[in-house]
Amino acid sequence: MWRVKSLDAILATAEKKSLHRSLGAFQLTMVGIGAIIGTGIFVLTAEAAQKAGPGMIASFMIAGFVCAVAALCYAEMSSMVPVSGSAYTYSYAVMGELLAWMVGWALILEYAVAAGAVSVGWSGYVVGLIEHALHIDIPNALVLGPMDGGIVNLPAALIALAVTGLLVIGTKESATVNAILVAVKVSALTLFIFLAVPVMNMENFHPFAPLGMAGISAAAASIFFAYVGFDAVSTAAEETKNPQRNMPIGLIGSLGICTIFYILVASGVIGTVGAQPMTDASGAGLRPGSPELTAACKAAGDAAVVCSKEALAWTLRSIGWPQVGNLIGLAAGLALPSVILMMMFGQTRIFFVMSRDGLLPAAFSKIDPKFNTPHVITIITGIAVALFAAFFPVGVLADISNSGTLFAFAMVAIAVLVLRRTDPHRKRPFRAPAIMIVAPLAAVGRVYLFFSLSTETKLLFLGRA
Ligand code: ALA
Repeated sequence: MWRVKSLDAILATAEKKSLHRSLGAFQLTMVGIGAIIGTGIFVLTAEAAQKAGPGMIASFMIAGFVCAVAALCYAEMSSMVPVSGSAYTYSYAVMGELLAWMVGWALILEYAVAAGAVSVGWSGYVVGLIEHALHIDIPNALVLGPMDGGIVNLPAALIALAVTGLLVIGTKESATVNAILVAVKVSALTLFIFLAVPVMNMENFHPFAPLGMAGISAAAASIFFAYVGFDAVSTAAEETKNPQRNMPIGLIGSLGICTIFYILVASGVIGTVGAQPMTDASGAGLRPGSPELTAACKAAGDAAVVCSKEALAWTLRSIGWPQVGNLIGLAAGLALPSVILMMMFGQTRIFFVMSRDGLLPAAFSKIDPKFNTPHVITIITGIAVALFAAFFPVGVLADISNSGTLFAFAMVAIAVLVLRRTDPHRKRPFRAPAIMIVAPLAAVGRVYLFFSLSTETKLLFLGRA
């Protein structure tokens, strides 16, 4: 149970079945941005506002900071052990089979639930686009899950199944397609910033924290989802040229660029349309994804960004740029499926490495003879993702996904620290600075965010573990 797989053995296994090393620092940064920017900023900005009000700016900073210290730990690990499998592999090398198995499952479920969350986010934008640009009214019953006041979110389930189909026939996002979609996302956010930031009204920032520090922490725990994906860079370590140099650049570069965008976009939303939460009669904030919030929004004519399923497009439409709002919707509609693809692809990778290590039955990783892909597990995953997407609100899925990701990331921080002790002489092409501060900060930051998640989410995570 506590058996570890030595770093040398891990490197040797990878060597035998190694992949072609073709990615450079720029491409890795692109991989990172491609996986990071998605439903978090496009959709969950509204949830963050509902939890924290204008104080969500602080939430974005806190989540970004916690991710940055974790990225330093990831950078050290991935440059030292440039193999597939990410947090799972590192835990196996340092903390043994049992914890590796738990981390592996946490990652598998997290990627799957995250794919569900991004599917729901995609659905919100595409439905909004169809309604505003084509003036076709689609009944809520078919495009919202039960907790959001509908019955089933069909578009979300369908996009999840479509992506599953692509994965089964072996679609791996090419670097070119990724670069184009990154350009689409970055242009959409840049356009938003250019139109929103100059017309900000500073009064909208008051009261800054209507639901107090608890609200800011809760929003930070949710908006953490917007940063998830930087670890996708480390899963590409086996395909990276000169990983010792390029990995840290890819990880920290992509995270830094996204953080700057997020803070500017969030400021634009708050400064233009305001971000005060909906509260009940006693002044307590209503929970995102709850029937109470849906009812309060309906009563208010959905006239607040916190009610929107497409926060950025809604903001632009509200400040007099309806066509640009639709364009942003189009950009999200085009680009978010690639985030779903990456999440599901990452999931199959972890499965592959776990079964290579014998921690999962070999049948799980059966390879389709024609397409050469792990079709069995991809289809099972796809159906699960489609069900999550059909019936749960985006914020709930994001929070559940975050709970496991936080667990896995905390393990990486601990692993880095342990290895500095137990294997001090191994070559570390990238050494995280001030590790005695950085690694504990990363671990503590994660515990803090974990405990800021809602009680339901924490219980779900524990039940699953
Ligand atoms: N960070 C990714 C997103 O926000 C998962 O969609």
